[in-house]
Amino acid sequence: MAIRHIRSLVLALACLRDVSSVLGGQVQSSSITLPSDAGQNRIAVNNILADSWNSYLQFAFPQDDLIPTSKSGINDRNGWSATVVDALSTLFVIGQDVVFESAVNYTATINFNLSSTAGTVSVFETTIRYIGGMLSAYELSGNKYPALLSQAKILANKLSVAWVGSNAVPFPQVDFSRNQPALFLSTVAEAGSLTLEWWKLAQYTGNDRYRQLAEKSVRHLIKLPAPIPGIPAQGINPSSGRSVGDFVTWGGGTDSYLEYLIKYARLTNTNDNVFADTWATAVDSSMRILARTSTVGNHQYVADLNSGRISHVGSHLACFLAGNWLLGGKLLNNDTIVNFALAANQACWNTYASTATGIGPEAFGYFSSDGTFTGTNPSRRDIDFYNKHGFFILPGDTFYDMRPEVLESNFYAWRVTGDTKYYQRAVSATNSFKTFLKAPAAYSPINNVNSPNSGFMGHMESFWFAEVLKYLYLTFDDPSRFSLDDYVFNTEGHLFKAPAAKPVYGVAN
Ligand SMILES: *[C@@H]1O[C@H](CO)[C@@H](O)[C@H](O)[C@H]1NC(C)=O
Ligand SMILES: *[C@@H]1O[C@H](CO)[C@@H](O)[C@H](O)[C@H]1NC(C)=O
Ligand SMILES: *[C@@H]1O[C@H](CO)[C@@H](O)[C@H](O)[C@H]1NC(C)=O
Repeated sequence: MAIRHIRSLVLALACLRDVSSVLGGQVQSSSITLPSDAGQNRIAVNNILADSWNSYLQFAFPQDDLIPTSKSGINDRNGWSATVVDALSTLFVIGQDVVFESAVNYTATINFNLSSTAGTVSVFETTIRYIGGMLSAYELSGNKYPALLSQAKILANKLSVAWVGSNAVPFPQVDFSRNQPALFLSTVAEAGSLTLEWWKLAQYTGNDRYRQLAEKSVRHLIKLPAPIPGIPAQGINPSSGRSVGDFVTWGGGTDSYLEYLIKYARLTNTNDNVFADTWATAVDSSMRILARTSTVGNHQYVADLNSGRISHVGSHLACFLAGNWLLGGKLLNNDTIVNFALAANQACWNTYASTATGIGPEAFGYFSSDGTFTGTNPSRRDIDFYNKHGFFILPGDTFYDMRPEVLESNFYAWRVTGDTKYYQRAVSATNSFKTFLKAPAAYSPINNVNSPNSGFMGHMESFWFAEVLKYLYLTFDDPSRFSLDDYVFNTEGHLFKAPAAKPVYGVAN
């Protein structure tokens, strides 16, 4: 008893000291002044949204996505009208109330018990797009549409067979007609970024099993022997629970596992420091082991590690890192992390600012004082480009797939610093999209960001709605409306309400 008292007294003192010295946890700058043309820019984004949405309805609905060149549709997310569900939270944020409600009404009629495509159902993609989209819309609209919650529950129940026996890690795919998992290998991103959505679902249904399933997978990943502290190998075998290979990256396949460590700590305000601490460990070892600056331009990059060898490559996907480190750096009240993040954000923006379209490529390489290995053979033209810009576009990765990450991080940088140069970058990207992505219908991915007439490719992914248009709009919006101090964004850009932040996250502080 006496010992308990002393302990709580000590903790109370420590807390007092933390609060009085610094108010950690505040993410947004308190001095953001929205430029006077913000309203015009919100209208510009709204017009892109309207054009994209109307073309989708006209040519593709109820299929998942629009193919802008052939004016037809494609089912690549199991045929549950992915664009409609993924657009819900953006329609709400932009204030398209009537379209939002009709999209909600339609979503309530989707039969999530059956996949209407032959393939299996991805646990990860279905969680971040469909479950995340519906729970965010449910919450944003004040719990007014219970069908959104019941639909999310139906999906999660179907997906939960991915956790087999006592396995901590789910299989990545489920066969909905047989209610059996497909016994594939997985990645830590697929296994480790379900927590925000399944935790919210547990909160709203009162069924804690959803949280337990998602959390036990992450806790397992946290304990894996790792190539560098805090970052496990990308591959994971759900049957054995063991790592596959030793590839280390902040890019696709690992990205959102790391992203969710700090976001889960923030969303839940859990007293268990393991999530925030593991994130801080991953960031720390990344700065020590993976950080590289280019020999041209001194740009700040974070390299991959391939069998212990530094690979001097970056990707559009990995550019989420800057925004995530800004969030976590602020929550941990650590300026070293915040300043690194701003430098990394600058390097990612440079991949936009250096091309003929003003849009960045899928992946790029660079050289640093310790080497030039990129896994590819740069041509004479690549080297010339590098000598001008401090990176070169990797062959085969010249395209823009309507991804959000660079503008997502740019949005965080704007809200965290209030520096209008970030606002202007969003204006510039909006103009580039209007000029270079405008397709026969709506907007389209393009083949080569460094060539204004390289042609269209692929389809208009649902994350164009969920992420790109939302992050652009929010950059032009009143910063107190959807503040980074009030909401946590899932990896698909869906917003979840967060409680007031704690003064400190993790014991590392
Ligand atoms: C949505 O459905 C409700 C209930 O049927 C109906 O009252 C409402 O008008 C519908 N909203 C829209 C925008 O279609
Ligand atoms: C889907 O399955 C659940 C659980 O069996 C059931 O409650 C629901 O009504 C089904 N929905 C449809 C559209 O069949
Ligand atoms: C801030 O983060 C850096 C990088 O991880 C770390 O080296 C440093 O100790 C941290 N500072 C504090 C005060 O925790």
